[in-house]
Amino acid sequence: MASEQDVRAGLRRAGQEHLLRFCAELAPGARAALLAELAELEPEALREHCQRAAAASARAPGPPPDLGTRLRPLPPGCVGSAIRGDPAARRRWEDEGFRQIALNKVAVLLLAGGQGTRLGVTYPKGMYQVGLPSQKTLYQLQAERIRRVEQLAGERHGTRCTVPWYIMTSEFTLAPTAEFFKKQGFFRLDPANVVMFEQRMLPAVDFSGQAILERKDKVAMAPDGNGGLYRALEDHQILQDMARRGVEFVHVYCVDNILVRLADPLFVGFCVLQGADCGAKVVAKAYPEEPVGVVCQVDGVPQVVEYSELSPETAQLRAPDGSLLYSAGNICNHFFTRDFLHAVIREFEPSLQQHVAIKKVPFVDDAGNLVKPLKPNGIKLEKFVFDVFPFAKNFVAFEVGREEEFSPLKNSDSAARDNPVTTRRALLSQHYLWALRAGARFLDTHGTLLPAEPELSGSEDPPACCEISPLVSYSGEGLEEYLRDREVKAPLILDEALAQVLRPQDS
Ligand code: UTP
Repeated sequence: MASEQDVRAGLRRAGQEHLLRFCAELAPGARAALLAELAELEPEALREHCQRAAAASARAPGPPPDLGTRLRPLPPGCVGSAIRGDPAARRRWEDEGFRQIALNKVAVLLLAGGQGTRLGVTYPKGMYQVGLPSQKTLYQLQAERIRRVEQLAGERHGTRCTVPWYIMTSEFTLAPTAEFFKKQGFFRLDPANVVMFEQRMLPAVDFSGQAILERKDKVAMAPDGNGGLYRALEDHQILQDMARRGVEFVHVYCVDNILVRLADPLFVGFCVLQGADCGAKVVAKAYPEEPVGVVCQVDGVPQVVEYSELSPETAQLRAPDGSLLYSAGNICNHFFTRDFLHAVIREFEPSLQQHVAIKKVPFVDDAGNLVKPLKPNGIKLEKFVFDVFPFAKNFVAFEVGREEEFSPLKNSDSAARDNPVTTRRALLSQHYLWALRAGARFLDTHGTLLPAEPELSGSEDPPACCEISPLVSYSGEGLEEYLRDREVKAPLILDEALAQVLRPQDS
């Protein structure tokens, strides 16, 4: 156990001795816990971190003034699309993606270390259920999509295959996530193929460069951003685990997108056939000021430019066909080769930018009272997962349809967008349209035929409630077998059991 003397000497070197100011009055257990936490912080790194945070927050906010002149859209040659262009090319990409999955070369990696403060629940966001008829959580939907894509690839290639699921958690999310998976029987995945690992935490710092105590016996710590991924991969030897399993391609995604297509064969196949080392799915921005980062080039190098960095004039620029020039909205769906991740860890991680987030951080004042600040008082430094794009040798982007693939759960219901209602509606609208396309006709509870609405506004619920288990269909495929020319009563919950019943007898 670290002695108080040693810890104090280290903190003095770091200029952070104030963190021990309540130490003498703590009960032995709390004191030992505080000393253990502080002993983990390397003095020189702590000093640098606190100084860097204070200096970064003091810098004038906003983009460099000449950014507009350095921007270019991505060259068309490195952009593929799931929604336009040659269907034969899409079939080729999808075939290639399934082939790689069947060869056990594809893994998915979930970024699940965030605190989900905007949603405001006390448990990891993946455990949230948005109120679907099935009451499935985000984690369950994702697990079932993994099982389905494994099944589809296996069937095509006459094999059994595995898409390992790597889950990056943080101090906040690891224990409850691990417990939840256990309680849910890993959603019938093999636990050996679900690998959870923890990202690092960093102290929150006040504007004078002092780390903040959130309790007398606890430093205020926050995860180091989703770009903490790269250090966490190294800390936990995850690339070695991937190598042992023969994984070469990794699909990285955020926990909150209810429509996420895990290990999407189309995206993976496109990236592989393009020889890409790094790729990003994008959706067309809905309107110029939409608050999403834009994938583009800065000085000829691929990068995500945050919406706050785009001037209104630049955001409004149009291409000759009338579409927005900077339209490629980043949806945190990334493709990386294992080799690229290796290069990032080996060479580039230390040069990743640190982004400043100014937050309200609860703290203890000098009298020992807990204060919940009304104004932001703390600085958190975060790295972002996409800041590795400039290091790619062959970067590609892949355009997908928003209605099909992107609806993030960011906020509670009190916000107008990206909340439980909008995400639930996005999923149910998608499933309603899949069912219609497969030939279903919906009846209401009285048996009256409901009018089919093949175009949905997105701002209202679909006319009939229909939820399709990912175990039955991954992206709308295979539904004709159950639904062609069928009259079905809403609500329709098409799960594996009902699929058995609806399956034609001779198949
Ligand atoms: P967000 O930026 O939406 O943050 O994360 P958040 O923590 O989920 O929510 P707020 O901002 O507190 O409301 C985007 C993705 O990155 C992950 C999140 O879990 C989510 O999947 N993330 C974020 C991490 O894995 N680690 C982090 O340190 C931060």
